[in-house]
Amino acid sequence: MRKPRFKIKNCTALITGASAGLGAEFARQLAPVASCLILLGRRADRLTALAAELQASRSDLRIDTIAADLSQSSEREQLAAVIIREEIPLNLLVNNAGLGDLGTFDDADWSRLAPVLDVNIVALTHLTHLLLPMLRSQSPSGILNVSSVAGFYPLPEMAVYAATKAYVTSFSEALRMELAPAGISVTALCPGPVPTEFFEVATRNGETIRAMDRSHPALATSPEQVVREALQGLEKDKPGVIPNSLLAFLVRGSRLLPFPMIREAIRLGAGPTSPKSLK
Ligand SMILES: NC(=O)c1ccc[n+]([C@@H]2O[C@H](COP(=O)([O-])OP(=O)(O)OC[C@H]3O[C@@H](n4cnc5c(N)ncnc54)[C@H](OP(=O)(O)O)[C@@H]3O)[C@@H](O)[C@H]2O)c1
Repeated sequence: MRKPRFKIKNCTALITGASAGLGAEFARQLAPVASCLILLGRRADRLTALAAELQASRSDLRIDTIAADLSQSSEREQLAAVIIREEIPLNLLVNNAGLGDLGTFDDADWSRLAPVLDVNIVALTHLTHLLLPMLRSQSPSGILNVSSVAGFYPLPEMAVYAATKAYVTSFSEALRMELAPAGISVTALCPGPVPTEFFEVATRNGETIRAMDRSHPALATSPEQVVREALQGLEKDKPGVIPNSLLAFLVRGSRLLPFPMIREAIRLGAGPTSPKSLK
């Protein structure tokens, strides 16, 4: 018999990277319907302020904040230990925390690249592995992995970031096939440019060009729309969500083209495959 699908109503969700951008928006859109939210990020003050805002609109919502650095293996293990010890019935994991680095690989300090790999790939994979027994026990459950349209293309000047997101999308697709029989939905969210703090964090010191300003306005999508489409897609058990129908059309169309054409378009910095357009 087909397992029931995951629903966000009354869910207990862990949102990583909830102190800003898409993570904070996930918290805002889940707050009216969830039973319990666990908000994670390094900036405790931001998490506390968000929790107070959400609590003011719904006093019966349980909200826990956890200040942790996901690039540290020990902090990931402590987080999972708390969830398991306190028997928090987690049935939604939003692996949202992530960061980028804009600029050529050759010029990059390793101190900028290492956290991109550690948070976008290692932390996302490790946290999923640590929390899977809990998600399994609470099935039907959901895992929403925040990837990027950048993961569909090799992108010069953001080579490492784009490659981490290719990993996230591929990992999510395989995981969803493995976990479907257990009633766990896995969805990869692949947004294009979204106005958040992402670009400030990704821009290197001294760099004056703001990447977001150079992307085509029609391809930019608000955090509200990205999160709305992501949650709808997860509930419909979609393997992937590309918010913004124009962007989705362009990306899906480009994937039908032979790869040498894509490579040439990227080299020329053209269209939706431009490294200046896709984050
Ligand atoms: N904005 C875009 O254009 C765009 C497009 C496609 C995909 N994405 C993806 O969307 C996700 C969210 O990004 P955003 O746009 O919302 O960026 P953002 O505003 O910079 O938020 C990033 C979040 O990740 C958290 N984070 C970063 N490093 C962390 C660490 N070591 N430990 C714990 N938390 C950490 C940050 O919290 P603290 O700093 O408090 O730790 C923050 O809450 C990322 O995975 C990003 O790759 C963004």
